Amino acid sequence: LVLIMDFGSQYTHLITRRIRKLSVFSLCISGTSPLKSITDLNPSVIILSGGPHSVHINGAPSFPPGFIEYVEANNIFVLGICYGLQLIVQKLGGEVRVGEKQEYGRMEITVERACGLFGSKAVGDKQSVWMSHGDEVAQLPDGFSVVARSQQGSVAAIENPLKRFYGLQYHPEVTHSPEGMETLHRFLFNVCGITADWKMQDVMEEEIKVMKGVVGPEDHVICALSGGVDSAVAATLVHKAVGDKLHCIFVDNGLLRYKERERVLDTFERDLHLPVTCVDAAEQFLSKLKGVVDPEAKRKIIGREFICIFDDFAQDLERKLGRKPVFLVQGTLYPDVIESCPPPGSGKSHSHTIKSHHNVGGLPKDMKLKLIEPLKLLFKDEVREMGSILNVPAAFLKRHPFPGPGLAVRVLGDVTEGNALEILRQVDEIFIQSIKEAGLYDSIWQAFAVFLPIRSVGVQGDQRTHSHVVALRAVTSQDGMTADWYYFEHKFLDDVARKICNSVRGVNRVVQDITAKPPSTIEWE
Ligand code: XMP
Repeated sequence: LVLIMDFGSQYTHLITRRIRKLSVFSLCISGTSPLKSITDLNPSVIILSGGPHSVHINGAPSFPPGFIEYVEANNIFVLGICYGLQLIVQKLGGEVRVGEKQEYGRMEITVERACGLFGSKAVGDKQSVWMSHGDEVAQLPDGFSVVARSQQGSVAAIENPLKRFYGLQYHPEVTHSPEGMETLHRFLFNVCGITADWKMQDVMEEEIKVMKGVVGPEDHVICALSGGVDSAVAATLVHKAVGDKLHCIFVDNGLLRYKERERVLDTFERDLHLPVTCVDAAEQFLSKLKGVVDPEAKRKIIGREFICIFDDFAQDLERKLGRKPVFLVQGTLYPDVIESCPPPGSGKSHSHTIKSHHNVGGLPKDMKLKLIEPLKLLFKDEVREMGSILNVPAAFLKRHPFPGPGLAVRVLGDVTEGNALEILRQVDEIFIQSIKEAGLYDSIWQAFAVFLPIRSVGVQGDQRTHSHVVALRAVTSQDGMTADWYYFEHKFLDDVARKICNSVRGVNRVVQDITAKPPSTIEWE
């Protein structure tokens, strides 16, 4: 195991992912975790991340007492990156000072000595790297040597092979350091001598073995499928472990997209051989939503109805099986559970910075279900990789995210008014199919249409119309937290707008949303 200790850098998760890309298992914990959290994991390599702090300030985050003694006694290799390097220097008796010149952005470094990090023949080699630091090393601890320097002459890389301590002042994990991956590769395999043995197939088999051990022969497991990638992959994996003791439910709440119910059920039943109970609850949801215009009120109503249906499903199962289901599958991913290092002085304990888990619509507490979260150590791209090994169709794995409250947050105002939902489904389908035909679907994070609660005047077939307006929204994003609007060619937009007005009765105007997030959100409600 390669353990990443997070000192608050925005790139920490990237280190974890880069190491996994090298087929080595890595986990990330807060840099200030107690020693026991580290010893329990028994790592062979520890990487100390960068961070926004200065080692000089009061309360600057640091590894726990006894850390140095522990790594030395257990022959653990340690690599400090940026702040991590400065911590090593300071804690082992060297000196870090405020840099005369700060180094931010692309810099050049020169390798000065034959060394483990860059190889024995690298002396004199120059590399372009990404730096972001204000402090610099003034004096090294005993036994350390400088192996590379920046063009400004400051320390860029250090090592002490005898003690197994290494440090890089720059960020090898970012793509702006083109040779960074090679350096990490050399560090892990040549310096630390670890083997590349983390393969998705093995991860899957191990997870199945664990689940088989945890779920008893009489225990039943339930899972709510949203139609999204995570719950689909989680359910498919659990199905491999527990077979027909898994009971899946898919709720048609009347707020799904064009033919979504058929498409999702087809994938589960035909492609994945996963039996699913489909509950037709459109009437139930829409009658509760009638006349409701406040976005938060809509969300609450949908959440509540979902809980009722899920509760009924669990009780039905109990009657049928003669016992309560014991486990609930959730598609929680690693980014939802990673602890991050809180800024010093923020007064936050680590538990505050663990994101809260949103279980299925906030299930009733008295259900007392135990959670199975088979994806909780994986990143999204790894879930897609696992899904592909499990034969989840590629088109399904690449689907754009779709919000839990569905089209209710895309019909502004009362969703039950007139045939707003039906119009929106048709417009959305034309937009999405056009995007797919243009080969743009995979370059876009999310694309959809929005039904606006206004009418505008138009002229169609020599007649004045007073009809509906729809908006098109397409964004690029890494994680949905921030987003840019997508630039379509004018010809594409022109074609889509014509198609919509010519084939969807009741629409005479199409507009495009050209705001980023922030200041907007991706959805309109
Ligand atoms: P916003 O609109 O907040 O959306 O910029 C960010 C991402 O989250 C999705 N989203 C939701 N997903 N329940 C969900 O499961 C919700 O209530 C919800 N609201 C927004 C949105 O589609 C985007 O991917």
